[in-house]
Amino acid sequence: MIDFTLNGKPVSTDVSPDTPLLWTLRDHFDLTGTKFGCGKALCGACTVHIEGQATRSCVTPVSAVAGRKITTIEGLQSKTAKAVQTAWEKLDVPQCGYCQSGQIMSATALLTTNHKPSDADIDAAMSGNICRCGTYVRIRAAIHEAARTLGA
Ligand code: FES
Ligand code: FES
Repeated sequence: MIDFTLNGKPVSTDVSPDTPLLWTLRDHFDLTGTKFGCGKALCGACTVHIEGQATRSCVTPVSAVAGRKITTIEGLQSKTAKAVQTAWEKLDVPQCGYCQSGQIMSATALLTTNHKPSDADIDAAMSGNICRCGTYVRIRAAIHEAARTLGA
């Protein structure tokens, strides 16, 4: 059994230790907000937080998260996360939506450590999150909006 904390609750799973965290979340915990895009750490659709760090769950074996705290889009509850989600709604960021949970996870991780990111900071932090709909301009604006509402 592999034990870890998932969205604030202790969980256990008996999946094979080399199962990617992404599929453990989706197939064994029914947390389907975390998306599969490339499976090779190239697109960011599968981004979750491990101990607050934005991490690609498609290339993270579940054995690597034993004893650690995982947060998915379903469990985002911090003040920063709420500011990000409110800004996303206000600026109508998503188009098809597929990449957006990963975008929000990365944006929240960024704003948790950098309260007033510059455009360059945003581009650097978000460059691994690909959006086929090209919502990058709204994503950047929403991150600035969230920083503003958080008092930066
Ligand atoms: S599915 Fe994980 S980075 Fe693309
Ligand atoms: S909103 Fe469609 S891929 Fe980003």
